[in-house]
Amino acid sequence: MNSPLKTPLCDLLGCDVPIVLAGMGGVARSELVAAVTSAGGFGLLGMVRESPDLIAAEIARVRNLCTRDFGVSLIPAATPPELFAAELAVCIAAQVPAVALFWDLSLEAIARLRAASILVLCQVGSTDEARAAVKAGAQVIIAQGAEAGGHVRGTTPLRALLAEMVPQLQVPVLAAGGLVDGNDVAQVLAMGAQGAVIGTAFLATEESFAHDYHKQRIVDAPLGAALRTRAFHVNWPPDADVRVLPNSVTEGRRGDPFSGTRTLIGHEGARRIWLFSTDSPLRDMTGDFEAMALYAGEGVGGITTIVPAAERLRSICALAEQVLGSAPGDLAKDVTNADEDAEPASCVCYARQSDDLYAGFAPREEILVFLNELLEAERAGARITARTALDAKDERLVALMQDVRRDEAHWCAMLLRWINALQGTASPRIGDFYGKCLAISDLHERARFINRGQGWVVKRLKAMLPRIRDDALHADLTAMLDGHDENIRRSETLLCGPSAAGAAS
Ligand SMILES: Cc1cc2nc3c(=O)[nH]c(=O)nc-3n(C[C@H](O)[C@H](O)[C@H](O)COP(=O)(O)O)c2cc1C
Repeated sequence: MNSPLKTPLCDLLGCDVPIVLAGMGGVARSELVAAVTSAGGFGLLGMVRESPDLIAAEIARVRNLCTRDFGVSLIPAATPPELFAAELAVCIAAQVPAVALFWDLSLEAIARLRAASILVLCQVGSTDEARAAVKAGAQVIIAQGAEAGGHVRGTTPLRALLAEMVPQLQVPVLAAGGLVDGNDVAQVLAMGAQGAVIGTAFLATEESFAHDYHKQRIVDAPLGAALRTRAFHVNWPPDADVRVLPNSVTEGRRGDPFSGTRTLIGHEGARRIWLFSTDSPLRDMTGDFEAMALYAGEGVGGITTIVPAAERLRSICALAEQVLGSAPGDLAKDVTNADEDAEPASCVCYARQSDDLYAGFAPREEILVFLNELLEAERAGARITARTALDAKDERLVALMQDVRRDEAHWCAMLLRWINALQGTASPRIGDFYGKCLAISDLHERARFINRGQGWVVKRLKAMLPRIRDDALHADLTAMLDGHDENIRRSETLLCGPSAAGAAS
């Protein structure tokens, strides 16, 4: 999918649209993650305090359900240290593409994940926290505004937080908190966020693991219903605020949350659910759901139906596209491929298959296989250059990688248009090149390898071009060849020049 909402972060995460499913503990399980991810967004499995076995099984289930990248969300401060170490080990062993961390900053966790080449996202509630996370190695920051559902880290409203944070950070910033529709998403993108993290609106979907009771309470809640409280505190660090819907606990009808008495209110299998705990009602629970933590963000009044997650994602994106399309400001500067609206030649050009074969031209089927092969390679190129730009310290290497990334994204869009015009099916795959490159931790070596990948594309183009009959496709592929030649030359100058060694660190 080539969405006008696309931001550079999409290349980094490997998604089509900059919509991230929040890693909601208990709620964001494999079914929901796969639904959001398959629809073009990026899903985070909410795995706070889960057993290593469950995490491994959930990762495997997502991989069974979809072929695209996703992440796992963990909370060091809310997890016993031994369990947390085991959770990290599972994520590393499974080589999940990304891990999102929340609450206290764990330098050790970030270092372990980075050493394993796993992309690290940190959710924070203030700019100071964001700076500390970036210093510790976080590659993406999730700015959580005070409007958020679930545990709320800071006190600053989202838009004020973005206005302060975005200009100060060198890494992509995602916005979270109270975002439920395309208007909200368009606004935060316009403020410089590279994507939106959405929790509550995805909780009320068919695939979420929340109990139907919780989903219905979200749908029934009026505007402004969600409130902030510390009443749900059992099994979390002290003094932690959560945003929930009002219930007998928040109204004080279940006694003093801090009296120390334990009241059993439910079960999840053999696990006991205590009154005032942070557990929210899940599909596999029984008990007094009304008294549990009914997490919801401030946008809750805008959610009036329970729909499939893909439908929610699509309607959010459709409205955001509409809003951004009519916005006077130039949002396109951050939106990849926005300059590519020229229609290529139609598939009619390929009607005379037998003539083509006779003249030595490639038939439509062969061209489609070729275009898809290039598409997978360019996707891999766009992602690895985005990732390398983020990891590199040297400004020249960062600039080079950013330029190459922009070009690769441009070629992806061109290839997709031609595949559509030839009535083919675009491959959803990302070339193996991405994994191979990512395994190279020395950025100097990695940049050389990326250049070899560009050389491979040039070779494939040179072999195919004489067999392309359609003039417009020929011209597009020639431009792609020239673009790659130019980038190879630029890279060689930087990587083989006198200060090459410094350039790659
Ligand atoms: C039910 C629920 C559970 C959550 N659990 C987690 C969690 O385990 N880890 C985490 O990083 N954030 C968690 N959050 C917070 C989200 O990451 C995100 O900040 C929030 O959902 C954004 O606000 P919104 O719900 O208004 O979209 C949770 C939020 C909700 C609603």
